[in-house]
Amino acid sequence: MAVTIKSPREIELMREAGRILAKTHEELAKNLRPGMSTWDIDHMGEEIIRSYGCIPSFKNYNGYPASICVSVNDEVVHGIPHKEHFLDEGDIVSLDAGVIYKGYHSDAARTYGISPEAQKLIDVTRQSFFEGIKFAKAGNHLNDISAAIQKYAESFGFGVVRDLVGHGIGSHLHEDPEIPNFARKRKGILLQPGMTLAIEPMITEGSYEVVWLDDDWTVMTEDGGWSAHYENTILITEGEPEILSL
Ligand code: MF3
Ligand code: CO
Repeated sequence: MAVTIKSPREIELMREAGRILAKTHEELAKNLRPGMSTWDIDHMGEEIIRSYGCIPSFKNYNGYPASICVSVNDEVVHGIPHKEHFLDEGDIVSLDAGVIYKGYHSDAARTYGISPEAQKLIDVTRQSFFEGIKFAKAGNHLNDISAAIQKYAESFGFGVVRDLVGHGIGSHLHEDPEIPNFARKRKGILLQPGMTLAIEPMITEGSYEVVWLDDDWTVMTEDGGWSAHYENTILITEGEPEILSL
């Protein structure tokens, strides 16, 4: 599939999807409490998304059984919510959510924690996204974004997950191109105004190697170290990128 350039009408719908997703994350963050189950978070997220007249895009996507991915501690991404999985005070928790508004998608993830060790990993992961999007400008190439994310995260000794990547987004959750968070030898596509991209660094405390659980979804660090995830849907413009989901 070719990388699509969105029309002004499509961009307007993606802006609205992004605004709603940003509010969803804000409301989830406000209500996160130790002792709550990951299933409660999913339930709350789905209610919030539907209250805005949107559809939670992850629900039943390739058989994913929930609306929100809740990934705790050594779970990197795609953690499946469970009724018996309760949040602990010291946990590091990633929430990944997607919404569909009038046929258009937005996808974003945030990570929360209160221990100083968690905060450092969370801050570096978030900042690696912002380092990456400094290069998200018409005329640059995709690899410029990827390389900047990697350089920043690795400068703190953290790992950059290789087996999962960001992606184009629009009338589908996953569109071309794939967006690695690490440099490759080829430059990748030339960035053009109207491209919409989901950029999502997944950063680990230790080794970047991951494994899949038997549920076929939950991605864990191989070494059991913590992991953080930060994602936004962005629009490439003639100048600075527009962050649609913040
Ligand atoms: N942000 C994740 C991704 O782009 C969300 C997909 S989870 C799924 O892969 F459940 F929908 F698959
Ligand atoms: Co995504």
